[in-house]
Amino acid sequence: MSNCDLLIRNCRVVSASGITERDVAIDRGRILALTSDSSSMSPTAKIDAKGMALLPGLIDSHVHFRDPGMVYKEDFLSGSRGAAAGGTTTVFDMPTTVPIVTSAELFREKVSIVGRRSLVDFGLYGAAGVRNVGEIGKMAREGAIAFKTYTVAPPGDRTKEYEGAFVTEAGQLLQVMEAVAGSGLPHCIHAEDDSVVGYLSGRLKSEGRMDPLAHHDSRPNAAEAVSVYQSIAFSRATGARVHVVHVSTKEAVDVIRAAKAEGLPVTCETCPHYLVFTKQALEKMGSRAKYNPPARSEDDVEALWRGIADGTIDIVVSDHAPHTEEEKRMDIWGAPPGTPGVETRLPVFLAAAERRGLGVQGTVRLMSTKVAEIFGVDGRKGDIRPGMDADVALVDLKARWKVRKEDLQTAAKGTSIFDGMEAVGRVELTLLRGVVIYESGGAFAGPGTGEFIPGPKAVRSSSSP
Ligand code: DOR
Ligand code: ZN
Repeated sequence: MSNCDLLIRNCRVVSASGITERDVAIDRGRILALTSDSSSMSPTAKIDAKGMALLPGLIDSHVHFRDPGMVYKEDFLSGSRGAAAGGTTTVFDMPTTVPIVTSAELFREKVSIVGRRSLVDFGLYGAAGVRNVGEIGKMAREGAIAFKTYTVAPPGDRTKEYEGAFVTEAGQLLQVMEAVAGSGLPHCIHAEDDSVVGYLSGRLKSEGRMDPLAHHDSRPNAAEAVSVYQSIAFSRATGARVHVVHVSTKEAVDVIRAAKAEGLPVTCETCPHYLVFTKQALEKMGSRAKYNPPARSEDDVEALWRGIADGTIDIVVSDHAPHTEEEKRMDIWGAPPGTPGVETRLPVFLAAAERRGLGVQGTVRLMSTKVAEIFGVDGRKGDIRPGMDADVALVDLKARWKVRKEDLQTAAKGTSIFDGMEAVGRVELTLLRGVVIYESGGAFAGPGTGEFIPGPKAVRSSSSP
């Protein structure tokens, strides 16, 4: 056999299709071969991975790295260091930065700004709203990975982040979904009905409610159920490929299950915080555990796990949404929603999944392979096989530990709701296209190692191989 840049010997290769003991050869940034006899190879460098699992680099298709515009909360460097330390080699960043990404020109600008800082490969969302329907096709051709629309208005002081990305009127949502359907890209919907949330928030505030559960009560299951049902009905009407983000309720799981059975192009995700916390976390941690949609009941948590088991829930992402400690100390109405999680996604999920009898292979599908398929980058990401980008995470699956917020990389580490939680699996080494971007103990590659990953409708795909 031939020369190669790097040989990772004696690893358990975990892919969505199986688990095998192999040596993995990497050359010029790609997987060259998987072999059980590498004696004839002459690699430039070798790693002995005995006892370790080799996972395809994880993909987190839902992060908010706040860059540009709110880098005091996080920037693409601190965010992507967190990703790398958590075994994630590709992130897709939401468009709700400042300025919000509503045009092809703003899209191009964001690619060049964050590309200088990112340690991991990155795709970018475009915002889809009524005022920029004319830009949707252009952003797809520019390389947008997908589009994002909120069905609920933002809090008054965050309009800059959301202007042009929230659509609270049904006819307007239909119009936006027609445009996104035309692009052929997934339409990611934040599904909470604005009028339900508006009515209840107003009522609870006027009753003087200031306890943490007021947040939960103002955004009930019904708010998500109505909006998920609406987006599915509009998928049926327009052909839009709806991807429901951060599903949190039993109702949503049931509606999405039925939509899939009908053959509609509908997919969905949930996040570790909806799988491990109930609304009790809100009572215990107050505003720190405030996120949208809110933490739910035991019954909802059980329904989400059933949704994972039967494939209704396609992927598990972080919805990494950092805010400062000062912001998260505000009262329950004033504090911004959101919680950091890009770095803790794998170990927190593995610990919870183990208790449910779900193994690492299923986890790889939920956090890498299926993510690549939904967003159309499965030709180069999401699996360990010859020809794919050599994005891999070497993980000690036997490691059992507890998350310590002070060890995290995110600028919002002080606000982690996962602090003290049980974790399974420690990421020892993360490689991006064959380059070490993280080594346990805290060695990181420099800023800018990551590349822009254009979506599948890109016309000028300058960064693609
Ligand atoms: O909790 C949340 N925080 N949910 C969202 O939809 C947005 C996010 C943020 O950007 O802070
Ligand atoms: Zn989000």
